[in-house]
Amino acid sequence: GVRGHGRGRMIGTDGANGIKVGSAAGEKTHGAPATTADGAAYIRLEEVDSTNVYIRSLPGRNAVVTARRQTGGKGTKGRSFVSDEGGVYLTRRTFPENFPAEDAFLVMANASVAVCRTLERSGLAPGIKWPNDIYVSGRKICGILIENTFSGRFLSRSIVGIGLNVNNDLPFELRDIAISMKEAAGHPFCREEVEETLAEETGKRFPMEEYLSRLIGMGEEAVVVCGDERIPVRLLSVDERGGLLAKTPSGERRFSAAEVSLRPAAKGNFAVDKGKNG
Ligand code: BTN
Repeated sequence: GVRGHGRGRMIGTDGANGIKVGSAAGEKTHGAPATTADGAAYIRLEEVDSTNVYIRSLPGRNAVVTARRQTGGKGTKGRSFVSDEGGVYLTRRTFPENFPAEDAFLVMANASVAVCRTLERSGLAPGIKWPNDIYVSGRKICGILIENTFSGRFLSRSIVGIGLNVNNDLPFELRDIAISMKEAAGHPFCREEVEETLAEETGKRFPMEEYLSRLIGMGEEAVVVCGDERIPVRLLSVDERGGLLAKTPSGERRFSAAEVSLRPAAKGNFAVDKGKNG
């Protein structure tokens, strides 16, 4: 796909149509369309171990798999992801062309924007904590697990898994750091509709400005964790390649999402960085 430079460049992978795959025996599709708006195969499951795992075995190319619940939901850093009924669990697989490996951050950025737009279409006001945590009312509403495959210097396959808290009740120990759409809005949502919207939005490519304009925490104090090192910083901005620019005691520095994580400052008001499922 064509990606230009500057603020207006598109941040997602190519949405080229793939070969449509049929549903396997036993799958329930609720009579809804078997392709997404962008022409990817759309498979809706009742239950699966993990939509990120299931999608690997599908033939064809671009695809979206959703499940009403997962029995082995996967989180980042090898953690598990509680995936109870009432949430949206969606994975999209794409095969980008001529997509430089160093632009992999853009896959995260695009997924973050897609989740935000889905929430906004439901009347909520989300923000993005760099690199790809989505917050509503200071709590995490969604988890994103991206599994990329590289071929030489290029990204050849991207598996983007999104777990969005819609009407599901959260485990007790996560109640002060996580939130659901139902809790945020004070009323439940049509889960199917949220799922359809997310399937649609993840099939689009957005300009970088859509990501940058939703960032939260800029100008605030935070701590950058880099291995055993903890660097107190003031967050400045995020650059075109997704690097975090921050003021540190030793001057201005750039941090890459692959190398560091972001925590709230000791007494700062920055949202707590903790996986949805601890
Ligand atoms: C995290 O916050 O740790 C990331 C969680 C990602 C969860 C989603 S749910 C759909 C997809 N399938 C999985 O097994 N994981 C992702």
